[in-house]
This record gives sequence, C-alpha cells and structure tokens, in this order.
Amino acid sequence: MVPEPLRMVPVAMIPIVVRLGSSIDSMTMGLKVIRPLDREDDMASYKVRINGFVRSVESSDPDKPLLYALRGLGLTAAKFGCGFGQCGACTVLVDGQAARSCQTTLADIQGKSVTTLEGLGSGSALHPIQAAFIKEQVPQCGYCTSGMIMSAAGLLAEKPKPTEDEIRAALDSNLCRCGTHVRVIRAVIAASGQGG
Ligand code: FES
Repeated sequence: MVPEPLRMVPVAMIPIVVRLGSSIDSMTMGLKVIRPLDREDDMASYKVRINGFVRSVESSDPDKPLLYALRGLGLTAAKFGCGFGQCGACTVLVDGQAARSCQTTLADIQGKSVTTLEGLGSGSALHPIQAAFIKEQVPQCGYCTSGMIMSAAGLLAEKPKPTEDEIRAALDSNLCRCGTHVRVIRAVIAASGQGG
C-alpha cells in the first residue's frame, strides 16, 4: 500500500494536535508536519466496557483519549472543556472512581468498567444525585453539569455521607462559569440524605 503523504497543519491547529499526542514529527517555517492520524493499516480494535455493555472502538492510537472514543460512540454527555484535566467537564467513572476522560486513554481502560452520565440512571430511575440536581435546579448553561454529577456520584460511592468540606474538596476542580456551586453543594448534601 502506498503510504499517505504527510499532511501540513496550520500553526493555529497545533494546540489541538498536541493533545492527541505522539503525532508531531517536526516543525518547519511555521507549519507542523504530522503523520496521518488514522491509517487503516494501523487500526486496532479495543474492547471497552461502557455502561454495562462491551463496545468496540477502532483506533490507530492506544493513547486516544477516552473522551473522543465516547463521543464517537454517540455518548455525548461528557464534554470537552479544556482537554488538560483542569475543568472537569469530561468526568466519567472508571471502576467507580471519578476520572477525567480527556486524560484517560483507551489503553488505560482495558479490563476496566466505564460509566458515563448516560449509564448512571434512567428517566424512570434517576440516580439520587441526578434527582437532586433537578430538584435544586442546578444547571444554568449546563455544560459542566454532566461532569459535576459524575464527580459527585464518585464521591457518594466512596463516602455516602460526606461533609460539606469533603464535597467542596471533591468538586473543587469541576469548574462552572455560571456560578452554580452553592446549588451543587446543596444537591450533593440532599442526595446523601443529609438535607434539612
Ligand atoms: Fe477534561 Fe477539561 S475537558 S478536564
């Protein structure tokens, strides 16, 4: 098979390419030269357990972020916010613990179980934290909500009756530009059965 020619990528796209990792070869005259990202002959199939089902993800890159794989499977609750593990919008559960899916690779989750917001509860049987977020009317723009809920779910799984300080610590790096934090804390306290 004749290899695809290397592609030239404008400098403005470099921050995105850098997050994909391992593809940048060299820099010339303000342009980065990268290899093709998805060559069919390099494809591997990764079996991933998501929300109780084994799904298959085709990728040429074992370092592909879980976030991208999820969204490619149509599971779009986890959001891309920063791509650097700093905002929490992409949070999911891996073996029951909150994890940033933008910093978790396909290789990382082999043999593990992933839960996204789509698998946390259902319309007829909401997870207590989902019900509490609705009752407290937490979301404003809603972009951070999925990550907030998954971080809170991870906390409650580990500590069913967290103190307010523990809630603040667990959600400290889940950012919300709308300023919903007071309602978030109220919702987590309510979901833990400690509300007034
Ligand atoms: Fe993953 Fe911001 S997108 S932490």
